[in-house]
Amino acid sequence: MPFYMKDTKIYTLAIESSCDDTSAAVLLNDKVLSNVVAGQPIHEQYGGVVPELASRAHQQNIVPVVDVAIKKAGITKEQLSCIAFTQGPGLMGSLLVGGSFAKSISMALNIPLIAINHMKAHILAHFIDEEGFPKPEFPFLALTISGGHTQIVQVNSFFDMKIIGETTDDAVGEAFDKSAKILGLPYPGGPLVDKFAQEGNPKAFPFTKPKVPGLNFSFSGLKTQILYFVQKNVAENPNFIEENKADICASIQHTIIHILMDKLKLAVAETGIKRIAIGGGVSANSGIRKTLKEAETKFGWTTYIPKFQYTTDNAAMIASAGWYRLRDHGPSGLDVGAIPHLSLTGSTVRGNRAGRK
Ligand code: KG4
Ligand code: ZN
Repeated sequence: MPFYMKDTKIYTLAIESSCDDTSAAVLLNDKVLSNVVAGQPIHEQYGGVVPELASRAHQQNIVPVVDVAIKKAGITKEQLSCIAFTQGPGLMGSLLVGGSFAKSISMALNIPLIAINHMKAHILAHFIDEEGFPKPEFPFLALTISGGHTQIVQVNSFFDMKIIGETTDDAVGEAFDKSAKILGLPYPGGPLVDKFAQEGNPKAFPFTKPKVPGLNFSFSGLKTQILYFVQKNVAENPNFIEENKADICASIQHTIIHILMDKLKLAVAETGIKRIAIGGGVSANSGIRKTLKEAETKFGWTTYIPKFQYTTDNAAMIASAGWYRLRDHGPSGLDVGAIPHLSLTGSTVRGNRAGRK
């Protein structure tokens, strides 16, 4: 047992500030004591996240959010054992706010600092100790679906992860948000498409699925198809969107779910792994959650669907990843920097999460 894990009770404070949510959480080992998220409604009027406004809002939110998280956990800051923060991927200005804050806490309290990959954390959210949410057994497949990523990851152990498929253009969250924008819905439109879809007919408007070889995805063609479809129908009937909102949303969601399920089925066939976890903001989608649950009886899969509050960005998942990282690899150095294009395997690649709008 390394020196920093000599206590059986490890209190981890985590900070997540990669995009437009400022979040802080305190975990006792792998159990959540508090998880506070402050959203940034300012972006709604711009139809997407404005990086400069996001980092300013993080600066305003971070002190109260961390304070509330520590208070809610019922501990004092002197009891903290370590501090984890999101190193990337994300927006540079946003990452810097959380990262600098975490470093100052680490220095002031003389506790280990742990840099965490946001996308790994979406996967490791499944290892938070929650009643009714069993932890996946290794190896398993993780479908990470968020505003900036769409990946199928083979997870062999806590930190041995391999991307076996990913989007070649837009992320699935972008497909939801951009479709919503076409329908005149505010940002982020994903949850609204989900809401309207629940009242609609998923087969009302058949959209074509893209033909992408192997385990990769593409969503930009679907977005264009929806744009032309809406433009054509609105030209004929200016009330088309209002009159058909639920059916359009249900049809879009149905198509997206089919695209994801087709690739998951292929991934299971190729790897022989039947344990499937989902993570990331889009895993909050009620249709995706339902379809995956049904796959248990339909295909004999064991599925892991995260508790709702650990789907969209939150610091509890960063703390969970931090606790395992400290245990298996030890702390990071204080010289660790923000990496906007951090890939799941640790290298810096150009992804579409950083600078997304
Ligand atoms: O993981 P996340 O909070 O942030 C990123 O890491 O990007 O994911 C945000 C994305 C947004 O695109 C948002 O529209 C989408 O998750 N989202 C949903 C739902 N809730 C959030 N998409 C579809 N249905 C939902 N219920
Ligand atoms: Zn995320």
